[in-house]
Amino acid sequence: MKCLGILAGPRKGHATDRLIEAVLEGVKQSGGEVEKISLYDYNIKPCAGCSACQMNKKCPIEDDHHIILEKMEEADSIVFGSPAYWSNVTSEAKKFMDRSASFFEMTAFGPRRKKKKPSKIVLITTCGAPFPFSHLMGIIPGAVGAMKVFFGRMNAKVHVIYAAGMMDPAKSLPSEKLMRKARDLGKSL
Ligand SMILES: Cc1cc2nc3c(=O)[nH]c(=O)nc-3n(C[C@H](O)[C@H](O)[C@H](O)COP(=O)(O)O)c2cc1C
Repeated sequence: MKCLGILAGPRKGHATDRLIEAVLEGVKQSGGEVEKISLYDYNIKPCAGCSACQMNKKCPIEDDHHIILEKMEEADSIVFGSPAYWSNVTSEAKKFMDRSASFFEMTAFGPRRKKKKPSKIVLITTCGAPFPFSHLMGIIPGAVGAMKVFFGRMNAKVHVIYAAGMMDPAKSLPSEKLMRKARDLGKSL
């Protein structure tokens, strides 16, 4: 079982990254193979709006984007984590999703993944506002919703993990309880 972790936030070793790591740790503990990448280590240009990828064709823009799609094609499960920025995903995450319609096949209901892989998806987000404001203000639902629009089109079971109240950008980290939950989820992937 191959699990691909994708960090879509700029800060390695911080809240979002740690939760991704915890899921991957669980995958490893149950004998799975893991790889983690950060979108910020790749040169991904913005979508040019030509819609080639929506015609099931390769994106014509020449940059590193295809490397990540190739990794996704190989993965049995994907763990994708973006911090909440303005109640949404990061611009890097959005840029990546905008470019990636060729991961799906075009159907009457829009792009859909028909292939069985990946069969499991874990979506992770973190935000500064504490619970319940994280939800009342639409912050976690906004970020999760943006990821689900893309990852929910896959032929996969989707799990969500979030950490609210990461108020101090330097010190806030997910609780041990949440990290354990993330590890346990990883073990079950
Ligand atoms: C540009 C930017 C926008 C943000 N927008 C929000 C927001 O809308 N709501 C919120 O609660 N926190 C917001 N935050 C705080 C981050 O979501 C929070 O600190 C998150 O845990 C950072 O993740 P990281 O530690 O993995 O980098 C924002 C932070 C930045 C840098």
